[in-house]
Amino acid sequence: MRTAKRMEQLGTETAFEVLAKARKLEAEGKNIVHLELGEPDFTTPDNIIQAAIKSLQAGDTHYTPSNGTLDLRNSIAKYVSKTRGINFTADEVVVTPGGKPIMFYAIIALIDEGDEVIYPNPGFPIYESMIKFMGGKAVPIQLREDKSFAFDPEDLRKLVTDKTKLLIINSPQNPTGGILTKEVVLKIAEIIKDKDITVLSDEIYSRLVFEGEPFSITQIPGFKERTIILDGFSKTYAMTGWRSGYGVMNTELAPQISRLMTNSNSCNNAFVQKACIEALDGPQDGAEKMRAEFIARREIIVDGLNSIPGFSCIMPHGAFYAFPNITKTGYTSRELADHVLYKGGVAALSGTAFGAYGEGYLRFSYANSRENILEAVKRIKSVL
Ligand SMILES: Cc1ncc(COP(=O)(O)O)c(C=O)c1O
Repeated sequence: MRTAKRMEQLGTETAFEVLAKARKLEAEGKNIVHLELGEPDFTTPDNIIQAAIKSLQAGDTHYTPSNGTLDLRNSIAKYVSKTRGINFTADEVVVTPGGKPIMFYAIIALIDEGDEVIYPNPGFPIYESMIKFMGGKAVPIQLREDKSFAFDPEDLRKLVTDKTKLLIINSPQNPTGGILTKEVVLKIAEIIKDKDITVLSDEIYSRLVFEGEPFSITQIPGFKERTIILDGFSKTYAMTGWRSGYGVMNTELAPQISRLMTNSNSCNNAFVQKACIEALDGPQDGAEKMRAEFIARREIIVDGLNSIPGFSCIMPHGAFYAFPNITKTGYTSRELADHVLYKGGVAALSGTAFGAYGEGYLRFSYANSRENILEAVKRIKSVL
């Protein structure tokens, strides 16, 4: 079969490949500690599950509008207004199956051949994949360990050209656990304010900021109109398998993203949308409990990683990832990831799975139990 040329440009997410390798080892009888996947190990809070069951039993088994039900979009608009401190309305919201499609749709909707897109590196691999898929020029901006994994706004100044169409930012970040502080975000805004550049602000981990307050670029006057917020339910409410997320954007772009939904998914699941209303409007203690547990695990994993010879790990400020520097082990990132998997039975990701600037690092997801985190550290020590 002859596939389209553009398919050669489409990348992937290595986490799923490492998971497949780890599962193969398990099938051969090996015991593996899984620290490769970015998904909470908790079950979705029960009030959300009950809302979905009730919705199914009440007959919510039909199509909904492509951009999501008005009730859910109202709940999202209320939630985003409250958490970002500015006013959003339901017609600025598009509900999608997970937050990820917002990357896909936003880049399809905005990027023509040759347009330049600046994106964080190391960063979520789908940004680069989608930019290239649409024929855009992928322009990485380095996240720097000495800046707690923020990027240097002066680097941004140098990378912006007349062809820059989109800037992608992500805070808290996958894979580094770093955040962009208010100070850095203000500088970013200052650099691009007079240019015709749209911002895709990936705020999927916004409820998992552990140091200071989350700050969205939309809070800066003039930026709400030119920013697409990506957020969702997967991380905050342990709902990865439900597939529900959303984009918030101006009312010119929202109908176009909605049309992409019509052309692909038609709409999100009706009963999942009901459950998502419960997630936002119902009690938040489930989400708060998970957050508190992540904070405790963060200390455990950072202490543990720093006790491994050749590792040094700064304290992540958000999300649930630790990103230790492993250059002193003498291994490349890829070699070390394979070594700890095949010899130690610990599944982690090479920093290079997130771009070239990830060389010298490994990513550990601490969305796993305290016992498993301690066991992983013990095993890595024993094979180094
Ligand atoms: C930075 C970032 N953005 C977006 C997503 C997508 O999340 P979802 O499962 O809601 O599609 C992820 C998931 O790993 C992520 O790490």
